[in-house]
Amino acid sequence: MTWLFDFWRSSIGGKVTMAVTGLLLFGFVVAHLLGNLQLFAGPERLNAYAKMLADSGALLWVARIGLLVVFVVHVVTAIRLSRANKSARPVAYQHEDTVQATFASRSMVFSGLSLLAFVVYHLLHFTFGVTNPEHFARKGVGAGGHDVYAMVTTSFAVPAIAIAYAAFQIVLFLHLRHGIQSLAQTLGLNHGRLTPLIGKLSVLLAALIAGGNLLLALSVQLGVVKVAS
Ligand code: HEM
Repeated sequence: MTWLFDFWRSSIGGKVTMAVTGLLLFGFVVAHLLGNLQLFAGPERLNAYAKMLADSGALLWVARIGLLVVFVVHVVTAIRLSRANKSARPVAYQHEDTVQATFASRSMVFSGLSLLAFVVYHLLHFTFGVTNPEHFARKGVGAGGHDVYAMVTTSFAVPAIAIAYAAFQIVLFLHLRHGIQSLAQTLGLNHGRLTPLIGKLSVLLAALIAGGNLLLALSVQLGVVKVAS
């Protein structure tokens, strides 16, 4: 186990850890969005999907614990790398491009910590029912006790909640865009003719994910998705 810890503590090991955990989190965000998009297919479909997840028992818990471990490792490694970067550079940068690189990595720490705050709020909202117990109570009244459709639509019908979710999607967009570019860098892909392509691909993927989440919140506000009665 010590070799693993030593690898994690090395500069390249830290970058590889960020890339692997980042990819896994990216996979989760894509899968979560694809599941949530079933909101557009109506209550039966979304609730059947939520029930299927809830009924997967031990498997769901393995996935949840795995996700939590990946998330914690991603955050802790990011903090370690950012501290190491700072202490390795007592003198200010001379060149414009490196100053920009520092700004990008600083904004990653900032957007990452904002997303951490979002996830904590999101769990208190939809998983633990702390922030809006009246919406969470709706989760228990549908077929098989999984009326997630009612919980989500009554939540996003509240303008402040829809705006909060929408605002966090901007942060998610920025974080994913830079994250995808960093991943390409770690994999040695971000050079020469590939750089503009990676730039465009990172904008496209980040926009699809953040835009999809945004669409969910806005559709309820705009009446495209009906709020459960
Ligand atoms: C509009 C967008 C979103 C909607 C409608 C949504 C909806 C939900 C719902 C309903 C649950 C609770 C599932 C349950 O307990 O039955 C949930 C859980 C969760 N969501 Fe989201 N979500 C959205 C965006 C996000 C984003 C952007 C992230 C991450 C950055 C995220 C991370 C999570 C996590 C980590 C869980 C806990 C998973 C679990 O333990 O089962 N969600 N979400």
